Amino acid sequence: MLEVRNITVQYGPVVAVKDVSMVVRPSSITVLLGANGAGKTSTLMAIAGLNRVSSGQIIFDGERIDKLPAYEIVKRGLVLCPESKLVFHKMTVMENLKVGAYTRKDDVSEELDFVFQLFPRLKERAKQLAGTLSGGERQMLVIARSLMAKPKCILFDEPSMGLAPNLVAEIMKVIQKIKETGKTILLVEQNAYSALKIADYAYIMKNGRIVFEGYPKDLLKDKTIVEKYLGG
Ligand SMILES: Nc1ncnc2c1ncn2[C@@H]1O[C@H](COP(=O)(O)OP(=O)(O)O)[C@@H](O)[C@H]1O
Ligand SMILES: [Mg+2]
Repeated sequence: MLEVRNITVQYGPVVAVKDVSMVVRPSSITVLLGANGAGKTSTLMAIAGLNRVSSGQIIFDGERIDKLPAYEIVKRGLVLCPESKLVFHKMTVMENLKVGAYTRKDDVSEELDFVFQLFPRLKERAKQLAGTLSGGERQMLVIARSLMAKPKCILFDEPSMGLAPNLVAEIMKVIQKIKETGKTILLVEQNAYSALKIADYAYIMKNGRIVFEGYPKDLLKDKTIVEKYLGG
C-alpha cells in the first residue's frame, strides 16, 4: 500500500531522516516509535509531501508520490493528521469538517455519518465554534477532519499527545475502529505501549534511522529493545 524506500530528509545541513525504509501493509496499523527528535514527524511530512526527500522514493498504491505536491497526495487518498492540534477557531465544528473534504467534489454524507458515529460529542457540538472546544475534543475534530477527505491511508502524528490516560485509550480505540473500516494506518506515538496494543507491525527510529522492526509481540519480548528504546 505504502512503501518508503531509502529516504533521506534534510533541513539545510541537518539530516533529520537517514536512509529510512518502511512498508505499510493494506488495512493494517503500523506504528513508528522513537524518542523526541528521532525524525518521526519529518518522515510523516515527507510521505505527505510537506517535506521534500533529498534521496529515496515513496510509493503509494503503486505510484511514486515523492515529487507530487501535498494536495495531489491527499487526492490520491493519503492524508496526514498532524502533530499540531490546529483547528479553525472561528469556524464551527461542522465547517471545520467540511474543510477536511476540500479536495472532494462528491457527496460527503457517508464520511460525516461515520465521524459522528466515532465521535458523538462532535455531533452534539456541530454548531459550536471550534475555538471553544476542550483539548480532547479538538483532537477528535482533527482526526475527524482528516477522515472527511475519504482517505485510504492515514498518517497519525502523536494523536494522544497531551491527553489524559482515559482519552489516550479512547483515541487508540478510535484508530482501531478506523482500521476496521479497511483503512491503512501509520501511527507515530510516544505512548509506546498503548500504540503497540493496537499495532500489527512496529518500527523504532533513533537519530534519523530505523533501528528495529518487527511484530509488536516480538518487540515486547525483547528485553534489550524494551529497555533501550521504550524506557523499560
Ligand atoms: N524545520 C526544521 N528545521 C530544522 N531542523 C528541524 C526542523 N524540523 C525538525 N528538525 C530537526 O530534525 C530532527 C527530527 O525532528 P522530528 O522529525 O520533529 O522528530 P520527532 O518527530 O521524532 O520528534 C530534530 O533534530 C529536529 O531538531
Ligand atoms: Mg514529532
